[in-house]
Amino acid sequence: MRIGPYELPNNLILAPMAGVTDRPFRQLCRDLGAGMAVSEMVSSNSLLWGSEKTRRRADHEGETEPKSVQIAGADPRMMAEAARHNADRGAQIIDINMGCPAKKVCNVMAGSALLRDEALVGRILEAVVGAVEVPVTLKIRTGWDKASRNAVRIARIAEQAGVQALAIHGRTRACGYKGEAEYDTIAEVKTRVGIPVIANGDIKSPEKAKQVLEYTGVDAVMIGRAAQGRPWIFREIAHYLRTGERLPEPSVEEIRRIMIGHLHNLYAFYGEYRGVRIARKHISWYSKGQPGGAVFRDRVNRVETVAEQLALTEAFFDGLAEREARAA
Ligand SMILES: Cc1cc2nc3c(=O)[nH]c(=O)nc-3n(C[C@H](O)[C@H](O)[C@H](O)COP(=O)(O)O)c2cc1C
Repeated sequence: MRIGPYELPNNLILAPMAGVTDRPFRQLCRDLGAGMAVSEMVSSNSLLWGSEKTRRRADHEGETEPKSVQIAGADPRMMAEAARHNADRGAQIIDINMGCPAKKVCNVMAGSALLRDEALVGRILEAVVGAVEVPVTLKIRTGWDKASRNAVRIARIAEQAGVQALAIHGRTRACGYKGEAEYDTIAEVKTRVGIPVIANGDIKSPEKAKQVLEYTGVDAVMIGRAAQGRPWIFREIAHYLRTGERLPEPSVEEIRRIMIGHLHNLYAFYGEYRGVRIARKHISWYSKGQPGGAVFRDRVNRVETVAEQLALTEAFFDGLAEREARAA
């Protein structure tokens, strides 16, 4: 899988998720087998660039290359400026968000709302591609609603504008996250453009990844929610695609090691106050489905310090490891 000058180590990509794919999580997924990880979206509104949140989102220090940064907005000039701003700060790929249905994004006519206005899509893509030297990629849904699935037309506009890869989430904007993602539109897009196409939506297992790759003929798959609390899913999929065999589930001991390392990186990146709060959702995901998980989450979500959060989390996972050892 190649994007511009970058040959990715494999064809498994971590999807951009606001509030989730911060630098610590991206790096963790890369370490565990993702071939690329796209940053959380950065607004194209320059008034926000000085904010702590946006500065953190644009922080890529020490990250494995290529560093892909997603921008969102609806004004071609502002999007071009945002692309330049991020490329100047180390972005090696600029990804444009036309796939996010969030109200906050759609109300200002950005994200997937843009799919309605194909002429504007063309102007934004041309402005961004023309503004930076680095490759530009695009993320879309299959269309605005089921009656107007225009992914093929958008894909051709993108290719013509010089976009170098296209990720498609197999739902329309109106679908939100309901129902199952469909892959027929993605397969059709793949036959109609020459640029690399990346399939996204509901890929939750190695088997599903293989099935989607084969069914659609796409170049890569993108995984979002299935990596929450399971960042090792990339290594599992890579192994399955290579060998046809499933890796055994990681032991509790290994999950504990990965998770505690992740928490320390969150505390270092955000500081104690934000770090503890951001860590809560990851701890919840890591502990999902574990015996006693609900009681543990109820307790751990109430503590406010790194020391308490770590102590409770370590104790919970030590208990699980003992259980696993007794059962073996
Ligand atoms: C919490 C969350 C935040 C998201 N934020 C973004 C975003 O900032 N930009 C974007 O293009 N898509 C965003 N998405 C959509 C995902 O990138 C992806 O397209 C979607 O979750 C479907 O893939 P999945 O089934 O593998 O999760 C977000 C999804 C979630 C669950």
